[in-house]
Amino acid sequence: MSSSSDNPLIRFAAFWWALGVFSLFAILLIALKLFSGGGEEPNVLEEAAGAKRYEVASKVKAAQDANLAYKEVEAGKVVQVPPHDVFAVVGKELVSSKAAAVKDPAQIIPGGIAAAAAADAPPIDVEAVNKLSPPAGTPPDPAAMEAGKPLFAICAACHGVEGQGVPALGPPLAKSEWANGPVSNLIRIQFRGLEGPITVHGQQMTFAMPMFPVIAAMEDADIANVLTYVRNSFGNTGGPVLPEQVKMLRPESAIKTHLKEADLIKPTP
Ligand code: HEC
Repeated sequence: MSSSSDNPLIRFAAFWWALGVFSLFAILLIALKLFSGGGEEPNVLEEAAGAKRYEVASKVKAAQDANLAYKEVEAGKVVQVPPHDVFAVVGKELVSSKAAAVKDPAQIIPGGIAAAAAADAPPIDVEAVNKLSPPAGTPPDPAAMEAGKPLFAICAACHGVEGQGVPALGPPLAKSEWANGPVSNLIRIQFRGLEGPITVHGQQMTFAMPMFPVIAAMEDADIANVLTYVRNSFGNTGGPVLPEQVKMLRPESAIKTHLKEADLIKPTP
C-alpha cells in the first residue's frame, strides 16, 4: 500500500484545493477594501499644501523640458541650448512660483509639528539680548572675524561679496541700518528668514524671494561669528555678536513663518 502523499491524483487535487482557498481569501480581501470606502478622513489642508508644491514642481519641470533641448537657430541648423539659458528660465520659474507656494499659509498645517512648535515657543525677550551687546565702538574679537569670513560666502550669494547687495536677490548689508542696528534683529532674521518690503538705506525694496533661514542649523558660535563679520566689515561698525545672544534667540527657529519688517525693532537710519 502506498501513502496518500505518494498518490499523484491526491497531490494534484490538494494543490488545486489550496489554490482555490487562497484565491477565495484574496477575493474576499479585495472586496472588503473596495466596499469599506477608505475610512480615513482626508486632510484637506495637507492636500492643498501638497498640491501647491506639486504645481511648483511641475511648472519648473515644464520650463526645464521646454528649454533643455535642441533649438533650430536657423533653417536646418539645430544647436543645443546652452545650460546657462536653461538655468535662467528655470530660475525665473522657480522665483515666480516658489515664492507664492512658500508664502501660502496652508504650508503650515494646523495641528502639525510646525504649528505645535510655534505655539510652544517661549516668549522672546529681545531687550535682554540687546542689553548684552558691548558698548558702541567695542572692537570685535579678531578670531571671531577670521572665523566668520569664510561663512559669509553663504550670504555673499545674495548680498554680494562686499555686502553691496545683488539686484533682485538681496539688499545691501554694507552700511545697512539693520546690520548695524539692534543685534536681536540680525539674529532673528537668521532663525526665521525675512519677507515683504524692507527699507534699507532709507529706501523701500521688494524682492521676489524671501530670505530663508539659511544658517539656522549652525552652532551658536558660528552664527555669532558670521554676524560679527557682517557688523564689522564693509564700513559697518556694529560691534561684536556673542554666542550667548544667539543662544537666547534660538527658540525662534521653531517658528516656521518668515519675519516681516514690522516684527523687528525699527533701527535708527
Ligand atoms: C538666498 C538669498 C539670501 C541669502 C543666502 C542670504 N540673504 Fe539676507 N536677505 C535676502 C533677502 C531677499 C532679504 C530681504 C528680505 C525681504 O524681502 O524682506 C535679506 C535681508 C537681510 C537682512 C536685512 C536687510 C539688510 O540688507 O540689512 C540682513 C541683515 C540679512 N539679510 C543678512 C544675511 C546674512 C548675515 C546672511 C548669511 C548668513 C544672509 N542674509 C543670507 C536674501 C538672502
